[in-house]
Amino acid sequence: MSVRRLAKEQPESFAFNKKSEAEIKFWLAKYPEAKKASAVIPMLWIAQKQEGWVSEPAIRDIAGRLEMPYIRVYEVATFYTMFNLEPVGTHLIQVCGTTPCMLRGSGELIDVCKKRIGKQHEISADGKFTWIEVECMGACANAPMIQLANPDGDHYVEDLDGAKLEALMDDLAAGKQIKYGPQSERNASEPHGTKVLTDPSLYDGSRAKKIKLPNTGKAEG
Ligand code: FES
Repeated sequence: MSVRRLAKEQPESFAFNKKSEAEIKFWLAKYPEAKKASAVIPMLWIAQKQEGWVSEPAIRDIAGRLEMPYIRVYEVATFYTMFNLEPVGTHLIQVCGTTPCMLRGSGELIDVCKKRIGKQHEISADGKFTWIEVECMGACANAPMIQLANPDGDHYVEDLDGAKLEALMDDLAAGKQIKYGPQSERNASEPHGTKVLTDPSLYDGSRAKKIKLPNTGKAEG
């Protein structure tokens, strides 16, 4: 578990904008007034989506609105790696470094990030990228993979290798739309080169074998 602290440089103040306020209203409506602290994660997430990261004034504002001690909101923000505690580039690349992704080449992805962006959490010189290593994101069947967070949303990009990631970063830097999901020929996490359900022998009976029915001594026709 990495140590997560608030950024050294913080803005003077924070205020939710109109769009965020509408989302907050939606989330607060889900909880009884006495349990409104349950909206702490959505509120932090809304702040992050508005600013790109969660600042100290944002944590303070959320604590006030949810009538929670500041330290409780701070604990949530610093515990979950989904919250960026410092500004990030336009495209945040979260590389999964857990065992299945590591065995399938996430080290290569990390090397590309180091070469093109720099150290974890830093913003690239052109302001377009930041990268961090994260733990399993539940897409191990498509290892190695990244999650890409940018103004377009949060997307998984899977079945990667170093060359594919470099090509994607070229396209992103040039402002091109990229294909999200698997970067291989397969759909979702189906087996590579699958013939499932397309092989005629599945339907023409040629695979059928006579079997002996149990306890009868008879063969099924
Ligand atoms: S190990 Fe990478 S998604 Fe699970």
